[in-house]
Amino acid sequence: DAATSEKLVELAKRRGYFFQSSGAYGGVGGFYTFGPQGASLKGNLEDAWRDRFAVAEGNMEIDAPTIMHEPVFEASGHLDGFDDMLIECPECGTSSRADHLVEDNTEYEDAESLPIPEVEEVIAEYELSCPECGAGLAGVAVEDFNLMFATNIGPGDAQPGYLRPETAQGIFVEFPRLKEYARNQLPFGVTQIGRAYRNEISPRRSIIRTREFTQAELEYFIDPETDDPDLESVADVEVSLYPASEQNAADGDEIETTIGDAVEEGIISSPWVAYFLGVAKPWYEAVGVDMDRFRFRQHLSGERAHYASDCWDAESEIDGNWIEMAGFAYRGDYDLSKHEEYSDDRFTIFKQYDEPKTVERATVDPDMSYLGPEFGGDAQAVVSELEDLAARDRSAFEGDSVEIDLEGETHEIPVEKTGFAVEEQTEAGEHITPHVVEPSFGVDRLVYTVLHHAYREDEVDGEERTYLDLEPEVAPTFVGVFPLQSDDELEAQANDIVADLRAEGLSVTYDDSGNIGRRYRRQDEVGTPFCVTVDYETIEEREAQRASDSASGDEPRADETTVTVRERDTTNQKRLPVDDLAETLAAIREG
Ligand code: GAP
Repeated sequence: DAATSEKLVELAKRRGYFFQSSGAYGGVGGFYTFGPQGASLKGNLEDAWRDRFAVAEGNMEIDAPTIMHEPVFEASGHLDGFDDMLIECPECGTSSRADHLVEDNTEYEDAESLPIPEVEEVIAEYELSCPECGAGLAGVAVEDFNLMFATNIGPGDAQPGYLRPETAQGIFVEFPRLKEYARNQLPFGVTQIGRAYRNEISPRRSIIRTREFTQAELEYFIDPETDDPDLESVADVEVSLYPASEQNAADGDEIETTIGDAVEEGIISSPWVAYFLGVAKPWYEAVGVDMDRFRFRQHLSGERAHYASDCWDAESEIDGNWIEMAGFAYRGDYDLSKHEEYSDDRFTIFKQYDEPKTVERATVDPDMSYLGPEFGGDAQAVVSELEDLAARDRSAFEGDSVEIDLEGETHEIPVEKTGFAVEEQTEAGEHITPHVVEPSFGVDRLVYTVLHHAYREDEVDGEERTYLDLEPEVAPTFVGVFPLQSDDELEAQANDIVADLRAEGLSVTYDDSGNIGRRYRRQDEVGTPFCVTVDYETIEEREAQRASDSASGDEPRADETTVTVRERDTTNQKRLPVDDLAETLAAIREG
């Protein structure tokens, strides 16, 4: 229910998970700060992602700048096409996303894919109004609004730059170097975890749609002709799939199947996308996403980004709505081809043939300077047009003259002057443009989902309690240590335990304020899996042991004193020896 989100956002602020930034100055929409618990949970999720998608898959990780200069985004298509539909209320000036307005108030489910004039028509037909002041929006123009944050690099405005709207471009532009680290062998993958920026028209639902967020992306480069994924390793993974065909059908529904069957039955057409869905599903489960509230949904054809030929989203259910946590896109050769076209570098890989091949090559005379004045002096342009034509269409050279276009003008050149010839050449291989498969995760939405799905309310000893049922592997605080009362001896022993646990690499909080019940509740709300309490029994046991050690004159024995260990979800308590406490808890943390 919607109330869970409200309660969660309130808990998140109170317990240091996340809160709106710069509150002292009134805050600004779409920017959030992760507090001590949130930063730690987010870091743990990023580490878990790195372990699975970089380390376990044998992929490389890079860390590129978040600001890139304009040519990158000219090539990538973001400058031209990374737009949302903006409508501004003429009465109160509130900006809204026109497609969201339509989706929220009509039966249209995919307004993003409609052309602007049609969106304007729907707004007029349904007499939609401003969500802020209620003024009618019929007849108000809808405009494309580019989502990139623009800046200037260096003084003046000679060098425009943009905050990257996806971490992916930082990987693509470095492909010429990255392929060398991969020794020019496909397939290989490159990951990056970092900030991305989008000047969202209407940021909403706390950290679900913000203007600065973290992505964890993998760009996996393949030879589409020869590289196949290891589907066997994920074939049995059970998934809930919502393909486009089901979304379009009147009584369409999710299909419960396995990755193996989904590929066999053609529900997922790209085996590579299927492979990464199969890797992602158990990973999401391990970090604490509720699998009853999780599915993969295929994008409808109008919904796909400009670069994707197929895309599936990992979605989680929050308050009855499905939200996108990650996208798994088949980007084809879109990005590398674009950067090859716009830059001076090579975004291809040399693919060696098994056996050298003899091929025919059509060539032209590389020196046509004598043609220069006739064509505005640009002999080089003539050569490159002729070379292109010779490679593309030899029949153009069969007559007496050949036609080329230069700056909008057609020129006829006598074939004999071009030096056209067909030669046999032996080639060891060819340059191919790899295709890209991209699992792209939003870390903030994952943090939100993990917290939302872990939110619990129950009753303990007749009192209402709220707790977060976080997986021990990702919980930001793993153990709370408390002296039962304010007492030097109890505190000293508790501090020794804190030091032991921290030495074992566990994140520990020490708390000696308030009654013990209150301290337990505080850690329950943070989602701390264990609490350790040092009480007088601990001290008595320690004294008794010391006395018997000194009476017997033996070397002191292993510490047999015990403490109370309380488990978060059940609230069960048992006494465990201090001596191997750190080891026992560390083993649980490791899973
Ligand atoms: N490189 C591909 C790409 O950027 P995307 O679907 O636009 O694809 C990937 O973004 C993920 O980034 C989304 O699934 C979502 O989790 C996250 N994301 C996108 N926009 C966001 C926003 N404004 N606030 C928070 N997370 C966002």
